[in-house]
Amino acid sequence: MFQTAAKTLSVASSVSRAISVRHYCKKTTRKLRISEALLGSELGANVKVQGWVRSVRPQKTNLFFHVNDGSCLQSLQIVAGSDLDEPLLTFGSAVEVTGILKKSPHQKQPVELEAEQIHIIGECNPVDFPFKIKERHSLEYIRQFPHLRCRTNAFSSLLRIRSEATTAIHSYFKKNGFVQIHTPIITSNDCEGAGELFQVEPSGPDYDENENFFSVPAFLSVSGQLHLEVMSGAFSGVYTFGPTFRAENSQSRRHLAEFYMVEAEVSFTQSIEDLTKVMEDMFRSSTEHVLAHCAEDVNLFHKHVTPGHRDMVDAMLKRRFPVITYSEAVDILNRSSQEFAFPTDWGCDLQTEHEKYLVKHCGNIPVFVTDYPYDLKPFYARDNQDSPEHTAAAVDLLVPGVGELCGGSLREERLDLLRARLEEAGLEDTYSWYLDLRRFGSVPHGGFGLGFERYLQCILGVDNIKDVIPFPRFSHSCLL
Ligand code: 4AD
Repeated sequence: MFQTAAKTLSVASSVSRAISVRHYCKKTTRKLRISEALLGSELGANVKVQGWVRSVRPQKTNLFFHVNDGSCLQSLQIVAGSDLDEPLLTFGSAVEVTGILKKSPHQKQPVELEAEQIHIIGECNPVDFPFKIKERHSLEYIRQFPHLRCRTNAFSSLLRIRSEATTAIHSYFKKNGFVQIHTPIITSNDCEGAGELFQVEPSGPDYDENENFFSVPAFLSVSGQLHLEVMSGAFSGVYTFGPTFRAENSQSRRHLAEFYMVEAEVSFTQSIEDLTKVMEDMFRSSTEHVLAHCAEDVNLFHKHVTPGHRDMVDAMLKRRFPVITYSEAVDILNRSSQEFAFPTDWGCDLQTEHEKYLVKHCGNIPVFVTDYPYDLKPFYARDNQDSPEHTAAAVDLLVPGVGELCGGSLREERLDLLRARLEEAGLEDTYSWYLDLRRFGSVPHGGFGLGFERYLQCILGVDNIKDVIPFPRFSHSCLL
């Protein structure tokens, strides 16, 4: 630590000597983020900015370079004297620049910083640095460098969008009176019953491998639903937004072993429409918020990464999302001339190829599919008790490019039906507490989960889920 600091200091002072220092006198210097500097409200002020060099352009009389600090997509142009012959000022190096903020003569940028002092805080060897100046690297290429890809324009835009979309989702729920619940990450239940669980036990010499740390097997949560259902016995609307884990042995472009899920639970429901309304409203309000608050960043994706995708997003927001039943979906698939790899008989699970076909068939906008076969759904899904087709009051939201974005259902609130189903599955002891929820003040309720990474894929048009999460985890890969 001491050594690094000393090195930085010596580099910094040598660079300070190397440049021409103009009109430097003791005056107040305000530290600004690049986004603040670019607003132009501090023209004439003496300011300090810190960031990373995004371009260097030596010219006859001046040296121009751009600095970005992650606060926005745009970089601030710095103008320094051409006498600055500084080999350490390279693409990717970290700098601190002090100077006067001036109106730029160029139309492309509102302001520029006339440098009085430049410190190189961290050098960056451009030969070894995997990203090259002026090159637009593909998302696939930058994915190879999970520790460095935030230095690219595309990934820093993605991270700002992700952050803003998180805010948008929280504010949607807040505006609509939902209470946020921190559901646990470690749990003893397998909500989805699919057995895709990561077990949690300590490691180390002091631990007895024959004993469970929690006295029972414990797992990373696959869903916060059951904990939200506990809360829906006391609150009319609750939600959670956090990491979820599935030991899915999948290398697909829409599955991760760790992903973020937004889950909501609504009490006093009357029909599945009480859920589809929340899903659709949340999708719309969050997307409109992101488009309005991250226009430049979203534009980078829609222009350079997935050209043409903006039209698709606008189309999604223009029309109400259609609703079809599972049985109608199967009919549509069976009438199609497309050859599917997986069967399309009534009772089959809809595969990605089916979901994508249904979305196209419905006009390439999000579509709800309701009333799935009862046997396809976990124990908590409400029995529609219809015949001859036995279905559950479950709903998925399918979206363009991705397929399933949300999965939800009305929950079985009738004690006798729920007990019978749990007994059939041999789970009545495990879920005796869940049966209690139906014993004491039970109300009709339901909820859903939205895969946050799939949501980002959908609005940005990103093909691979690994490109919308900072540190992707999937089978055979846990980098960093
Ligand atoms: O459909 P799922 O499995 O639903 C549940 O977990 C319910 N318990 C949620 C609830 O009702 N509260 O998952 C919900 C969504 C999916 O529609 C999908 O978008 C996303 O979570 N998802 C994944 N995203 C990335 N990687 C995976 N392995 C995913 N598995 C599900």
